[in-house]
Amino acid sequence: MAIQRVGILTGGGDCSGLNGVIRAVTRAAIIQCDAKVIGIEGGFEGLISGQTQELTIRSTKDILTLGGTILGTTNKGNPFDYRELDTDGSIKTTDYSDKAVETFKALKLDCLFVVGGEGTLEIGYKFYKKGIPVIGIPKTIDNDLEKTDYTFGFQTAVQVACDAMDRLQTTGKSHHRVMILEVMGRNAGWIALEAGIAGGAHIILIPEIEYKIENVIKKIQLRKKGGSPFSIIMIAEGAKQKGGDTIKAQEAAGRLQGVEKLGGVGFYLASQIEKEIDLEVRTTVLGHIQRGGSPNSFDRVLGTRLGSFAVDAAAQGKFGTMTALKTPDIVLVDLKDLAGKVRSVSVDSQLIACAESIGINMGRKAM
Ligand code: F6P
Repeated sequence: MAIQRVGILTGGGDCSGLNGVIRAVTRAAIIQCDAKVIGIEGGFEGLISGQTQELTIRSTKDILTLGGTILGTTNKGNPFDYRELDTDGSIKTTDYSDKAVETFKALKLDCLFVVGGEGTLEIGYKFYKKGIPVIGIPKTIDNDLEKTDYTFGFQTAVQVACDAMDRLQTTGKSHHRVMILEVMGRNAGWIALEAGIAGGAHIILIPEIEYKIENVIKKIQLRKKGGSPFSIIMIAEGAKQKGGDTIKAQEAAGRLQGVEKLGGVGFYLASQIEKEIDLEVRTTVLGHIQRGGSPNSFDRVLGTRLGSFAVDAAAQGKFGTMTALKTPDIVLVDLKDLAGKVRSVSVDSQLIACAESIGINMGRKAM
């Protein structure tokens, strides 16, 4: 099937590498298919408002290394359940999905590339079921998407967190302190686990393993007794104590977003440790620094491969799919197999076994 006009949008929280995907899709669509490429602005909101820009080889030539997304994004604008403030300040929800389909048709597009994480791809799948030829491209720093080895954006976030760990190591050691680094990831511990191992953490706490505070304290005490009166703890924002709950962020909970914000578990952990140990404890929350800035080389290559493969899939009419990394290849998987699913770290994984084998305390054993 010849594709003549294709659309692309970026949805959900941004991450490093989005622009590399936009560039790859644009270049492959123009070079391989002689197609026009329409960038839809502000995620699915652009499909409601009709706000678009034409993407060309020239307009995308300097964006490979640029953080963020030149198309803009939002994690609010779900056209099937669009949340707006009513005149009385309450939230009203409206289904604008038919309007979005009309915009797609008015733009005379042959295909829509939806670049996003689990929530965005689920919306993409709903549009596919409404007749829009959709191809998904997997993005998220959380790395929590099924059917792909990695999402782009993740490795850059891990690098940022690892760099922060390196810095906390030196200051923590100098002051004989317990240093806690809280990282993102929602209910998945991928960033904490990989960056914790890479950054030489002594304790790593992830959502998939409810931690026992006595095990955390034991590890710090053992290190102190052994002549290392400092400890570095990596904690995922979604981590929770055995029998406890996740900690919700204090900041405004994003009413229009409709999703609870996580954050603050690092401070909670610090308060627990301080009660038991005569070492000072300091907490750093890394936050959106993990999402901004230039992508590392892994994410540039992965994003380019995912984008170029998506165009190839569109040219073959393989819609309702997502491009995915199945090392060493890029493959196509069905969007229907992803909807509503999140990939967590398996508690029996080799990665966790590896961490524990070298003495990293994961909060579940006294060691
Ligand atoms: O899903 C990506 C992510 O960065 C999560 O790790 C984090 O919990 C959330 O988005 C933060 O969202 P927001 O940018 O709305 O604060």
